[in-house]
Amino acid sequence: MFDTLQFDVTHALPFLPKNWLSSRLDGLTEARNLLEQGNGLGGEFTGWVKLPASYDQAELQRLLQTARIIRDQSEVLIVIGIGGSYLGARAMLELLTSPNYNLFYQKTPQVFFTGNTLSSDALTELLDYVRDKDFSVNVISKSGDTTESSIAFFLFRRLLEEKYGREGARDRIFATTDRESGTLRAMANQEGYATFSVPSSIGGRYSVLTAAGLLPLVVAGLDVQELLAGAAEAMADLRRPGQENPAWQYAAARNALYSAGKGIELLACYEPYLRSFGEWWKQLFGESEGKDGQGVFPASVEFTTDLHSMGQYIQEGVRDLFETVVRFTLPQSSCPLDPKPGDLSGLDFLRGKDLRFVNEQARIGTVLAHVAGGVPNLLLTVPERTPYWAGQLVYFFEYACGLSGYLLGVNPFNQPGVEAYKTNMFALLGKPGHEARRKALLNQNGL
Ligand code: PA5
Repeated sequence: MFDTLQFDVTHALPFLPKNWLSSRLDGLTEARNLLEQGNGLGGEFTGWVKLPASYDQAELQRLLQTARIIRDQSEVLIVIGIGGSYLGARAMLELLTSPNYNLFYQKTPQVFFTGNTLSSDALTELLDYVRDKDFSVNVISKSGDTTESSIAFFLFRRLLEEKYGREGARDRIFATTDRESGTLRAMANQEGYATFSVPSSIGGRYSVLTAAGLLPLVVAGLDVQELLAGAAEAMADLRRPGQENPAWQYAAARNALYSAGKGIELLACYEPYLRSFGEWWKQLFGESEGKDGQGVFPASVEFTTDLHSMGQYIQEGVRDLFETVVRFTLPQSSCPLDPKPGDLSGLDFLRGKDLRFVNEQARIGTVLAHVAGGVPNLLLTVPERTPYWAGQLVYFFEYACGLSGYLLGVNPFNQPGVEAYKTNMFALLGKPGHEARRKALLNQNGL
């Protein structure tokens, strides 16, 4: 008996062969053992599998203490990181508070995520915003050498030093990076910044339950101990083999749908608080599976908003899509609709109904329409929107992603393709060590 999230494959069954799960049990058993023993492709990056139950309690206490310092001294926390070094924290922050956290949660510092762009407009806007505010910086980079985050850190550190002097800036910089290597580690050691480590056995997209994800969340007042407790519970459940295992079912269903020509998965939600969760999920599955000419292409949609933009394509475009809906059961704010008889809104038919009922009917109506239109629908139901269940959800997708990558036969823990644009960018920027590439690019492209 699995006590974790509920996975429902009913609305995908018409598109799946009868043996969609049974024919994959051997592969899932093997994938599970590879994750368990850390001896599959990329096995050196499976530290996340057992992390939730073995979290270093001393580090946790230091995180809580540091967050108190940041809260006391800051109106704003600037979180600098890209990819796996910010998406998890942002996803959890918005899921557990609101996409409007900075407007409505005023007892804790505002949290802005940057270092994830090279846009001078975006960076200048944020620098201007914090210029006359008390702020601290949490710079997160496992490698410590990522260009986008290095540039943002340079700009915000310079502003901190202008405002508070070099000494004062030191007390406002918190670095999360590799324990030993990288430019950021070297600078943090030299300058004496407070630091947290990302374990070398955990890659960026699996790092939300490390200090990389947790420090910003504690600053925002979230209960990360509950988040870890939920993840630990999911870990205990999902590592147990068996066809009842919802992570096994999800990995098998998406693998079978992929084999049946459904090469695009839409993560769909009906709540804006899940929008950034979709971004986190896309990176998790996209970077883990998209290699060797293979992989389901992950996209995300927010309904009903996107039914008025993407709805037409989903209903009638190329039939290579399937949908995975994530839904929290509780709590949902009550918003009664009570138009008086004759109200000009034309909404008489909704008298006595609550908006949450309307949203649920929209979900059911959409599933039925999409299934009728040839889009298989998977459903993941999470009982409550709490840190505990958010921890379960994170672990569910991480674990299912590991299984899914191994079922596909790829290394789910590397991302060699990410280097291609970097190499070209460095060559074009004239970074030392990239001279030959620069020459070739300029010659071949008439630049
Ligand atoms: O999943 C990954 O490994 C990447 O998305 C990285 O997190 C991202 O490239 C940022 O890397 P770093 O933390 O080294 O700055």
